Amino acid sequence: MYSEKVMDHFSNPRNMGEIENASGVGTVGNAKCGDIMRMYLDIDENGLIQDVKFKTFGCGAAVATSSMATELVKGKTIQEALKITNKAVTDALDGLPPVKVHCSLLAEEAIHAALWDYAQKNGIEIEGLSQPKTDIHDGEEEETYE
Ligand code: FES
Repeated sequence: MYSEKVMDHFSNPRNMGEIENASGVGTVGNAKCGDIMRMYLDIDENGLIQDVKFKTFGCGAAVATSSMATELVKGKTIQEALKITNKAVTDALDGLPPVKVHCSLLAEEAIHAALWDYAQKNGIEIEGLSQPKTDIHDGEEEETYE
């Protein structure tokens, strides 16, 4: 059911943890399943993502997609990171079962949320980035995960 890459990233997640004084932190939840993902970015003065860490309280697919997302984001520019879609993350994992594809949305949104936080902290605008959702099931029950 799961690809070898998914199993690998689930069993040995890359970049798990947190960054103290991160440049940007984004937290996104999925109220339906109750899973939560938090992404930490360390961005240097040239706008390069030097380090990234994540914490995911969620299903195996959410852990594997967070892990892969951090690998894809590391070393990238803000604009490059912004273009990383959940499809890119899923493809990099050789796919997810259809019922689990929504889990990869957490990773995409968590990256956006962390970039948004970075922009807010620095009083800048990132082209192409609008305020991300805190819940990927927008329009349903409002939930906060602070
Ligand atoms: Fe909730 Fe996968 S079931 S993120």
